[in-house]
Amino acid sequence: MSNPAVTYEREMVPALFRPWVASLLDLARPVPGEHLLDLACGTGIVARMAAPRVAPGGRVVGVDLNPDMLGVAQVEGALEGLDIEWKQGRLEVLPFAEAEFDLALCQHGLQFVPDRAAALGEARRVLRDDGRLALAAWRGLDHHPFWSRFNDVLMELMGIPALAAPFELGEASDIESLLRGAGFRDISIQARSMPAVFHDPASFVAMEVDVIAAANPATQHLDDRARAELTRAAEARMADALRDQTRDGQVVVPMHSHLVLARMQALPA
Ligand SMILES: C[S@@+](CC[C@H](N)C(=O)[O-])C[C@H]1O[C@@H](n2cnc3c(N)ncnc32)[C@H](O)[C@@H]1O
Repeated sequence: MSNPAVTYEREMVPALFRPWVASLLDLARPVPGEHLLDLACGTGIVARMAAPRVAPGGRVVGVDLNPDMLGVAQVEGALEGLDIEWKQGRLEVLPFAEAEFDLALCQHGLQFVPDRAAALGEARRVLRDDGRLALAAWRGLDHHPFWSRFNDVLMELMGIPALAAPFELGEASDIESLLRGAGFRDISIQARSMPAVFHDPASFVAMEVDVIAAANPATQHLDDRARAELTRAAEARMADALRDQTRDGQVVVPMHSHLVLARMQALPA
């Protein structure tokens, strides 16, 4: 059986996740010596790109509930010669003591957490009094017509909106009230857009179906046979939409995200 976390790292991270990390880090501004936590780290691209910024003397920890994603994170981090701790855990019950971190980062992870208020309460608990949180969350499916079509197809085939979860925290007002409710202050939210570029139109749908199992707890039960049948049916239904997004042999999909910075305390005026 293929490992969706490996496909995620190979196909999705370069197209959808790595391109956003620099913007998130520019907002969060990690500095040498800081203790940094990557929440819902997946295969660890944020932690891995942030680690050189807190050296020397810093500490980087990635936490995620999926052990397969953490396994890939461990291998990639070691290959890059980085000293990062990888911990299995849920954002709603973080396996850390109070005030262990200066900075928490969460890139496209909070939207998957059923109890987001609890997750942000936990982020606040593990941050120091002057700590900060930077997060990225895709805007809604109404801003992403291609993914909306793909989601409709998966709904038709599987009976669940398997691509809805990534886009479920799309409203800036929802993000702000969640952060305020968890006790964060000085909240800034900006909307940014960037294209996702996938290099192989022929395998695009198969790859997507594969990684859905890694990113979405609701679909992690699919076996190889179920995934192959689903892929064939989805490829037929997505052919026109995929052709519309294909330019010069690449699938190019505009992506829209909110980038958010929040602090534990308001800065002095
Ligand atoms: C789309 S991936 C993003 C991963 C990573 N931040 C990145 O930028 O590549 C979402 C991740 O959230 C994790 N996740 C979902 N619910 C979670 C929870 N309740 N606690 C911890 N991690 C969770 C999944 O296992 C998955 O690795």
